Amino acid sequence: MSDKLTSYELPVQKDPNDSHLRDGWHRVAASNEVKNGEAIQVDDFATQLVVWRGDDGNVRALDLYCKHMGAALSCGEVDGNGIRCPFHSWKWNDEGNCEDIPYAKRIPPKAVTRSWQVKEESDDIMVLLKKS
Ligand code: FES
Repeated sequence: MSDKLTSYELPVQKDPNDSHLRDGWHRVAASNEVKNGEAIQVDDFATQLVVWRGDDGNVRALDLYCKHMGAALSCGEVDGNGIRCPFHSWKWNDEGNCEDIPYAKRIPPKAVTRSWQVKEESDDIMVLLKKS
């Protein structure tokens, strides 16, 4: 057993290209599992996702782990149609761009994460997998 109390390693975002899933739409949740203003974590897709429903009622998806320091965005808060990270409150939009850092005037150009195409069909939330 390790005598370390904390890990210095950031969580690993799985490479979708390593997934056994085929390209196409995949069900990740039932529509009623993601209520307005709520976010969930999805682990059984080609990579880990945060899926949330914004104020406008639309569902969105990004890579789960924040590109800043690796927090799980599913533990953050939905803010308007974006999601705020639980660690340092960076706000991410559905295109994967950071659009607000509360303590900074400038957003670093590298503050970008991967976004996923989402649709709802027959009360299911579907995410499109397109491997590169
Ligand atoms: S880890 Fe997400 S804003 Fe810092």
